[in-house]
Amino acid sequence: VLSEPFLAAWTARYGATPDLPLDAILSPVLEQQLQHRSVRAYSARPLPPGTLTQLIAAAQSASTSSNLQTWSVVAVADAERRARLAQLAGNQPHVRGAPLCLVWLADLSRIAAAATVNAARAEGLEFLESLLLGVIDAALAAQNAVVALEAMGMSCVYIGGIRNHSDQVATELALPPRVFPVFGLCVGYADPTRPAAVKPRLSQSAVLHQEQYQTEQQAAPVAAYDGLLAGFYASQRMPPARWSEQCVDRVRTPEALHGREKLVAALQQLGFALR
Ligand SMILES: Cc1cc2nc3c(=O)[nH]c(=O)nc-3n(C[C@H](O)[C@H](O)[C@H](O)COP(=O)(O)O)c2cc1C
Repeated sequence: VLSEPFLAAWTARYGATPDLPLDAILSPVLEQQLQHRSVRAYSARPLPPGTLTQLIAAAQSASTSSNLQTWSVVAVADAERRARLAQLAGNQPHVRGAPLCLVWLADLSRIAAAATVNAARAEGLEFLESLLLGVIDAALAAQNAVVALEAMGMSCVYIGGIRNHSDQVATELALPPRVFPVFGLCVGYADPTRPAAVKPRLSQSAVLHQEQYQTEQQAAPVAAYDGLLAGFYASQRMPPARWSEQCVDRVRTPEALHGREKLVAALQQLGFALR
């Protein structure tokens, strides 16, 4: 029998109850994941001692391409540095408000150093594939930390705005060549007076394809999701908006990328050749 919290979380996620067999395996981890919500308002409560060490253990327990471990993270607790990062990330107040900002890095510098020590060529580092490898590793590590911190009662929000001015973020964090800040992650305790809600997602029929991609499968669930999310925005007293229009707005012009349209040049400056 599906538990009440599981059913409630599923319904919040999909706007519908789950279509699961009676003998489906239940998992407290899945129940917690269904309750994920980004938090942008934090209380002044500090993080418990040992938190960072535990989160990094979670992150390092993620799979990593060929065990290369091509990621690192900078933990920024200093309020003034967080304020500067907040500004660089599009003036996002939660970067100031959360006690900790983790900046996750695609880090090819360790491999480059190993090649130098071994007087070896490292031409592979110049290819887009190597950057992608680091970005994937960083994302998997970060999301493992997210699952762990939410299990510990903390909350977070990713900060893609960190890529608006990658060069200045790299300077602020003293990043060596071949290290790219992929995104930030604000971590803290949610402000109980300004709670965040579980945001619905597309139905599974939009994202799950059986055996081969079904192009014609896309239109109906997107239309349904526009309606579901409109209801969510209304319930949160947020301005009305259509999701599919928001998606289009996000890609309409280069300027809509808020500085990230210059990412290729920024990456080249950071030491990525991108062949
Ligand atoms: C890589 C990444 C970058 C993000 N960047 C930002 C950001 O800069 N600012 C922000 O407020 N939220 C950011 N978010 C949070 C998303 O807006 C959020 O995950 C999405 O709206 C779904 O909401 P939920 O996390 O509450 O389910 C980012 C999320 C991801 C995965």
